[in-house]
Amino acid sequence: MASPRVDAELLAAHVLGVSRGRLALLDDLGRADRDQLDALVARRAAGIPLQHLTGVAWFRHLELAVGPGVFVPRPETELLVDAGRALLGRPDPLVVDLCAGSGALGLAVANELPGARVVAVEQDPAALGYLRRNARARHAAGDPAVRVVDADATDDALLPELSGTVDLVLTNPPYVPAGTPLPADVAGADPDRALYGGADGLAVVRPLIRQAARLLRPGGALVVEHDDTHGAAVPALLVAAGYAEVADHRDLAGRDRYSTARYAPPGWKTAPS
Ligand SMILES: C[S@@+](CC[C@H](N)C(=O)[O-])C[C@H]1O[C@@H](n2cnc3c(N)ncnc32)[C@H](O)[C@@H]1O
Repeated sequence: MASPRVDAELLAAHVLGVSRGRLALLDDLGRADRDQLDALVARRAAGIPLQHLTGVAWFRHLELAVGPGVFVPRPETELLVDAGRALLGRPDPLVVDLCAGSGALGLAVANELPGARVVAVEQDPAALGYLRRNARARHAAGDPAVRVVDADATDDALLPELSGTVDLVLTNPPYVPAGTPLPADVAGADPDRALYGGADGLAVVRPLIRQAARLLRPGGALVVEHDDTHGAAVPALLVAAGYAEVADHRDLAGRDRYSTARYAPPGWKTAPS
């Protein structure tokens, strides 16, 4: 939804190096700041994402570096962190973020669960640059180190040493069906490889569901974001791949948005509550 006033205020705060809340306390802008703000407002009006102009995106409690070439984390993805945390039964879980982009999911888990060991997998060079930068910055700020892995998240040979040991897999993969019309600011801003998941949108989701089943320990949990047209298809894929406790969830706009499940190989039983 367009929010020109908020965007202009955030750009002014960026130019002045203050929080948006402090703008009302400041005097008029100087000439140089005004020129810089005018230029930024013109670029925003031309459709450049706010986060590309400021260079940062907020995700849960984190300020992440973003820019052209990396997917800008979305508010609805924040819900996956709560869903994943709710499925964990220990304070020191092993967590894998597949298709990590700027690192939003994995770095948020490391920030909120200081006992977690987190591995973030991404294959795009531009996204990896932001991911490494954000991981370094969060570690310098006191969060646990996140291991960044440059790899195809769908590769059968991914992280063989972790097979059957992971407590939680989080993933927000590319899932938009090819040809789906997107708002101009989305289509022009986020890289296609971050958005599109083949003809039916499930070309990356399908192998990731298998990949997670290999990585997870019995009873380990998967949280996967999906297209709002996949509220039935993704749960069906999860059931077919041997997961239990499969559930689908809506985002704050009421759209089918992510699925949760536990890997349940033959013989694994849900712990009695
Ligand atoms: C929708 S973006 C999500 C990024 C991040 N998880 C977030 O929520 O902000 C999907 C990401 O998956 C990456 N990606 C796509 N296919 C991949 C693959 N086969 N292996 C690893 N990363 C992949 C893209 O480069 C992109 O960064």
